Amino acid sequence: MILVSGGAGFIGANFILDWLAGDDEIILNLDLLTYAGNLETLASLRDDPRHVFVQGDICDRALVDRLLATYRPRAIVHFAAESHVDRSIHGPGDFVRTNVEGTFTLLEAARAHHASLDAAEQAAFRFLHVSTDEVYGSLGTDDPAFAETKAYEPNSPYSASKAASDHLVRAWHHTYGLPVLTTNCSNNYGPRQFPEKLIPLMIVNALAGKPLPVYGDGLNVRDWLYVTDHCAAIREVLARGTPGEIYNIGGWNEKTNIDIVRGVCALLDELRPSADGSHARLITHVTDRPGHDRRYAIDARKIERELGWRPAETFDSGIRKTVQWYLDNPQWVADVQSGAYRDWVAANYGTRGQAA
Ligand code: NAD
Ligand code: TYD
Repeated sequence: MILVSGGAGFIGANFILDWLAGDDEIILNLDLLTYAGNLETLASLRDDPRHVFVQGDICDRALVDRLLATYRPRAIVHFAAESHVDRSIHGPGDFVRTNVEGTFTLLEAARAHHASLDAAEQAAFRFLHVSTDEVYGSLGTDDPAFAETKAYEPNSPYSASKAASDHLVRAWHHTYGLPVLTTNCSNNYGPRQFPEKLIPLMIVNALAGKPLPVYGDGLNVRDWLYVTDHCAAIREVLARGTPGEIYNIGGWNEKTNIDIVRGVCALLDELRPSADGSHARLITHVTDRPGHDRRYAIDARKIERELGWRPAETFDSGIRKTVQWYLDNPQWVADVQSGAYRDWVAANYGTRGQAA
C-alpha cells in the first residue's frame, strides 16, 4: 500500500480517485480535515476497502510512526499542506507548522521506517514530496520559464514555507540517503477545488451573482494545469523517477488572470445564462495582494524527456469540464461553504477596497 498525506484536499483527493480507478493498491489517507479537507469529495469510496482513512496531523510523530509500523507502506506521497497564499498573508503560523514542521515530522518518521525495511524494500521505497512552482519566485515578461535548476526566491509566506520543506526533503536524501522525489507544479484547476482559489471562486461567485474580485490590474500570469494531468505526472514520477531528482510539472499554458476570469464568464454565459446579462458584468478590480508575484511559467521538458509525461488536457477542454462539474455539484459547493468559509471571505475581501 501507499500512504497519502492530505488526501481529502483538492489534489490529494483527485489523486486517490484516479489511482483507485486504475489500480487496486490500497491507499492509507492521513488527513487532518482542516477547512480545506472534505471527505464528501471521497464519498464514492466510503465502503471501498482500498481506501483507509485516518483523521490525524502530520505533525503528530507518534501517530505517523504507528501508521508506518502497522501498514508498512512502500511509498509516501506527501500532499498535506496549507496551500492558499492569501491565507498565508493573514496567518503565516499555520504554514510554518504544517508545511515545515509537518514535512520534517514525516521525513523523520519515514527515515526510521526506511531503516526498518529489508534491503529490497529499502531499494523500492519512495518519499514523494508534492511542491509548487511558487518556490522559484516571480518572472518578468521575457524571462525563461522555471527549470529545475532555477534558484529559489520565494516571496510569500506560503512559498517560503514550501521552499523550506523542499530543502528539508533534499537534505534528507543527501544526508540520510532517504529515496526522495520532489515535484514542483504550476497552478492546478479542476473539479473539487476549494472555492477560495481563483477559478472555483469565480465560478461560485458568478453563479451567486456576486462580484468577481480581480486583484490589481489582472495581468498577473499563471501557468494552469488540469488536476488529473498533475496526478498522472505524480504517478509517473513515483513509478520511474530517479531518487534525489526534482521534476517540474506544468501545463504549457500561461494566461493572465483577467483572461481566465473572462473565459469562465463566457462559459457560464453559454451553459447557465443569467437574465441580468453577461456574468462579466460582475468583474471587479480590487486592491492587489501584497507581494503579488507577477508571473509563473514552468519549463516541463525534463519530465517529458525522462519520463514521457505531457499534459493530456487542453485548457479549453479542462476549463469546460471544470465549470460543468461545479454546475453539476451544487451540494458539494454548499457543503464546503460552511461558517468558516464565510468568515474567510469576510476577512480577505471585506476590507479590500475596490481598485480605481
Ligand atoms: P488543499 O489545501 O486543497 O488540501 C490540503 C489538504 O491537507 C487538506 O485536505 C487538509 O485537511 C490537509 N492538511 C492540512 N494540514 C494538515 C496536517 N497538519 N496534517 C494532515 N493533513 C493536513 O491543497 P491542494 O491544492 O490539494 O494542494 C496539495 C499539495 O500540492 C500542497 O502541498 C500544495 O503545496 C501542492 N501544490 C498545489 C497546487 C495548486 O494549484 N493547488 C499547485 C502546485 C502544488
Ligand atoms: P490563487 O488561485 O490564489 O493561486 P496562487 O496565488 O497560488 O497562484 O490565485 C491565482 C491568481 O489569481 C493570483 O495571481 C491571484 C489572483 N486572484 C485574484 O485576482 N482574485 C482572487 O479572488 C483570488 C483568490 C486570486
